[in-house]
Amino acid sequence: MPVPGNAALHSASMHETTASSPPSELLKRVRAILDDSDRWREQTLNLIASENLLSSAAREVLDSDMLHRYAEGHPGFRYYEGTKFIDQIESMTTEVMCRIFRSSWADVRPISGTVANEAVFSRLVPHGSPAFAHTVASGGHISHAKLGALGKRTKDLNPWPMLDDGWNIDVPAAKDKLREIKPSIAVLGRSLILFPEPVSDLAEVCHELGTVLLYDGAHVLGLIAAGRFQQPLHEGADLLCGSTHKTFFGPQRGLVLSNSDDEKMTRKVDKGVFPGSTSNHHLFTLPALLVSAFEMEVFGAAYADATIANAQALAKGMHDLGLDVAAADLGFTQSHQVAVDVAKHGGGKIVAARLCDQDIICNMNMLPGEPPAAAVDPKGLRFGVQEMTRNGMGPDEMREIAQIIRDVCVDEADVRERVHALRARFTDVKYGFTPDDLR
Ligand SMILES: Cc1ncc(COP(=O)(O)O)c(C=O)c1O
Repeated sequence: MPVPGNAALHSASMHETTASSPPSELLKRVRAILDDSDRWREQTLNLIASENLLSSAAREVLDSDMLHRYAEGHPGFRYYEGTKFIDQIESMTTEVMCRIFRSSWADVRPISGTVANEAVFSRLVPHGSPAFAHTVASGGHISHAKLGALGKRTKDLNPWPMLDDGWNIDVPAAKDKLREIKPSIAVLGRSLILFPEPVSDLAEVCHELGTVLLYDGAHVLGLIAAGRFQQPLHEGADLLCGSTHKTFFGPQRGLVLSNSDDEKMTRKVDKGVFPGSTSNHHLFTLPALLVSAFEMEVFGAAYADATIANAQALAKGMHDLGLDVAAADLGFTQSHQVAVDVAKHGGGKIVAARLCDQDIICNMNMLPGEPPAAAVDPKGLRFGVQEMTRNGMGPDEMREIAQIIRDVCVDEADVRERVHALRARFTDVKYGFTPDDLR
């Protein structure tokens, strides 16, 4: 696909220029864009699987003097002075994360899931060494692919062999391939993740070969934290990376966790995080992560139960209405996600845009078996229910959403009024603390 230059991007995406107006007018425009965005988001069904909402308490602590500061190194050893308060926040966050994930080691400094992955790959994948990861069509993330963080270290990327169902790894074949190829790293975890990965089945072979087994739990981190999805570190994964803002309640950050006693490995990852992949680690978001971690301890289990029940209700609802929901034979999903094949309704690109025009926001997604070229116009859609669950929706609302999505996909119906009426009943952020709880 050709990559447009800045000018083309500008005219394609903004439809206006900053050249002809004074800053005083442009500032008002900035405010107006944000107000429009906030108002619109309050009316839409937000079903992007990688997003979530902050509680009012977590949002409040984003605005502090830490917004302006640096803290390289670790609490107790910094390269700059003036960090005594951020040291307290960072130490507490590390401690709470270790408690939540029952891990012996955590690095909370990566500023995103991709940065967490990069920190691991940069120190544990020798240049050109073989690696195992999912392809994007099998749900893998771009950071596990040739053009992403892993691809910067090696082009010797071996896809996990999959069963005919397209969703599950063929474990005996995977063990054989691991033994044959002896990769430096084996990456489990996906962007389209409906079911747990066979961590315990593969851990023994990886350890026998000296292969680092990384579970990328970016999407399911909150479900893991709540004990409602598999527990990678306790099934044999050496490292768990994740994003803190998908099913976890936090601001946009990442982390790496381990329960391994291989200190040489964690020391390398530590160096991969800093100085390898971060310097300033966006300190102002760390207090919000800490608040969200406390929220996870208090509300996580109830939230994860509701999220998974909602995903199942949405999947079954769409299936019963005749949509081609993926993995029907396997029970649709055990996570926050639902995948749907919309090839016969125009394909993922067209249908996602049609839904967005109706204020239902999701993304097009490749489905198992699709060729790499399908990335720009795949068959599928991916929905995530974690955000609407945090707004307090339950299975009844999921069935209503299923009907709305069906009416857009099949009848190309105008459903905006129904969407707005449904959303207007769910505006608060549940499963979280309020500013009063901070005082
Ligand atoms: C499996 C997986 N890993 C990593 C990432 C990257 O996370 P982030 O957006 O926090 O960089 C994603 C993003 O969706 C993902 O799905």
